Amino acid sequence: MNSHPVDATTTSAWNKLAAHANNFSPDLRAWFAADPDRAEKFTTRVGDLHVDLSKNLLTEETLALLGQLADEVQLQDRIDAMFSGAHINVTEDRAVLHTALRRPPGATPALHVDGQDIDTDVQAEFDKVFAFADQVRSGEWKGITGERIKTVVNIGIGGSDLGPVMAYEALKPYVQEGLEARFVSNIDPTDIAETLADLDPRSTLFIIASKTFTTLETLTNARLAREWLWRELAATGAKIADDDARRSAVARHFVAVSTALDKVADFGIDPENAFGFWDWVGGRYSVDSAIGASLAIAIGPDNFRNFLAGFHTVDEHFRSTPWAQNVPALMGLLNIWYTNFLDAHTHAVLPYAQYLHRFPAYLQQLTMESNGKSVRWDGATVSSETGEIWWGEPGTNGQHAFYQLIHQGTRLVPVDFIAVANPAHGLKDGDADVHELFLANFFAQSKALAFGKTADEVRAEGTAEDIVPARVFSGNRPSTSIMAPQLSPSVLGQLIALYEHITFVQGIVWGIDSFDQWGVELGKELALEIAPAVSGDSDALASQDASTQGLINYYRAQRR
Ligand code: F6P
Repeated sequence: MNSHPVDATTTSAWNKLAAHANNFSPDLRAWFAADPDRAEKFTTRVGDLHVDLSKNLLTEETLALLGQLADEVQLQDRIDAMFSGAHINVTEDRAVLHTALRRPPGATPALHVDGQDIDTDVQAEFDKVFAFADQVRSGEWKGITGERIKTVVNIGIGGSDLGPVMAYEALKPYVQEGLEARFVSNIDPTDIAETLADLDPRSTLFIIASKTFTTLETLTNARLAREWLWRELAATGAKIADDDARRSAVARHFVAVSTALDKVADFGIDPENAFGFWDWVGGRYSVDSAIGASLAIAIGPDNFRNFLAGFHTVDEHFRSTPWAQNVPALMGLLNIWYTNFLDAHTHAVLPYAQYLHRFPAYLQQLTMESNGKSVRWDGATVSSETGEIWWGEPGTNGQHAFYQLIHQGTRLVPVDFIAVANPAHGLKDGDADVHELFLANFFAQSKALAFGKTADEVRAEGTAEDIVPARVFSGNRPSTSIMAPQLSPSVLGQLIALYEHITFVQGIVWGIDSFDQWGVELGKELALEIAPAVSGDSDALASQDASTQGLINYYRAQRR
């Protein structure tokens, strides 16, 4: 591997894109009118995903230049490097192999990296997770008092929470009846208190999910959960007074997922009840590893395998499809166009699928922890703007909240809409199919953003002249529409892999390491340093800056 990334800003494609942007006057109305094939020309497909890029601010020239940029930054080499297990996570000196988690059993040629037989290890761990999931689902796995498990509580944070909770919510229709999963992440004690409040300890199983098994939030919540289990079991009359009984209770009610199995044992969880993964799976790329154990239990191994197969479909497409049809590459490159040439600062993801309500939050970690960087992987300062702010809420709720700004504000906000043709609940309002009303809103929004409404059209509706300007919609507000037949496990896997690879493409153009996250460390260190001051250590308090001292003093004066 080269010891420096290609600086995209020095490429000929970058210069041409800058010139192209200077002369760019997007006119989606005129473009669609002039080219009846525009929609078809700019609609691409991967797996079950139908991706319409035609309402973006792009021409064939834009795409050709972006393709040239991909070539000049050696995107294909970097993709190959990732899939082959090169240490492209440079600052942590690690391979990046989440794609290996979804290789089908028996995939050839076998993948060996750094002396590890990756396929064998991955399949062995999934076998273990799936066997455990089957035991819980069948009722063979019992709590200490002999009751079957009804509730699985995943305790984790960041990638050990956002992926599992998002996917569980997305795949609710696939969850086995009589089973539910809940998720605790925040160290705010309210989170665990509320989550456990109505649970029966005899039928509750905790999964402690932490890649490092050192995360303050997760270990604190795990200890609180263990105390809760012992206390609430005792309250039911279970004999739990001595150490042996307590250990047995933990063995039946706690399992762990981690890359640090020694630390799992220190916590008191039997390593037999722990599932592993590897340092080449980044936390935010880990929902398809054993970190997804809560999901595997809830939806079952067959559905989980379909979930993995969905990822794999997109992986194969990404590594082998020319840029002009390569959906993750096109979408990633388009984001470069908006961010670096058209001055967009944010990117909205608006699912018209209520079950995807946690997808934007999931994407925030995936994209912003990956690409929110100011230095390149060789330590040099980046030469252009990097990671956008990703955000979103499900439609139609967003329509009644922030769409005003997207339609008429001064900022350019590229939007991804996501919708499925078949709803999980085909409800009718009288004769009206409610899903059709819902989708009409999605189609309407992308149309309104693209084509807007002119002053003459507003006037033609009889609007008083002084109000006309306020009712004009400029149009030319870009959106991508992603549709799928239904929100199946496979489709969800496809969507996640799509955004993983979009994130990768952008990171390559910017020359950054999309797989480290040093920016989260300082706050963690300071929290540990400040904790004694919060608890009343006056020396620790005195060493803080004036503002921090003032805040801590306020807290101590108010706390009852
Ligand atoms: O603080 C950020 C982070 O390191 C994320 O990258 C990670 O997903 C999360 O914390 C949780 O880490 P762990 O799984 O090791 O508990």
